[in-house]
Amino acid sequence: MKSMKRISGVFTVVVVVLFASMSYAAGLGLPLEKSVATGKALFIHGTFGGNGSTCETCHTSGGTVPGKMPGNITIPSLANAAAIYPRFNPRAKKVITLEDQIRNCIVGALHGKPPAYGSVRMNALVSYITSLAQGKPMDMGGKPQ
Ligand code: HEC
Repeated sequence: MKSMKRISGVFTVVVVVLFASMSYAAGLGLPLEKSVATGKALFIHGTFGGNGSTCETCHTSGGTVPGKMPGNITIPSLANAAAIYPRFNPRAKKVITLEDQIRNCIVGALHGKPPAYGSVRMNALVSYITSLAQGKPMDMGGKPQ
């Protein structure tokens, strides 16, 4: 009886450890990395059914350095974008989120159809842009770098 209890106790511990390590891998490992990679691919190649431009057209080098608009106008990098949103957008006269801004660029700059909020593609773009700001302090309302 005693040894049965001990065996089932050990079994429970093994199952809990196995389950915990599996859910750790699922939550923080591959799926998140995959979402970042998908977002990066969309950022560089995605046209969203628009005019043929991609994010990379203006936000060069994956958005890691200051970008260029047609007419040689310099725009800020996206290096800290995820750390400064939500922010007040004077044109919209309201506070907007990172998703809102991504949609603004897809509609306004790519003339494309933005992915729905919460969709795999939208979350991938957010994952990629957030990965650029990894380790940067939150700076809500701060300036783009
Ligand atoms: C025609 C050029 C152009 C293209 C293409 C473009 N953007 Fe932008 N983007 C801008 C400009 C200009 C800004 C500066 C702010 C504004 O529009 O108010 C900006 C701002 C941003 C910001 C906010 C940066 C900050 O720190 O405030 C994000 C995020 C962003 N773009 C994402 C994207 C994504 C994702 C794509 C592709 C789906 C994209 N952009 C395509 C021109 C572009």
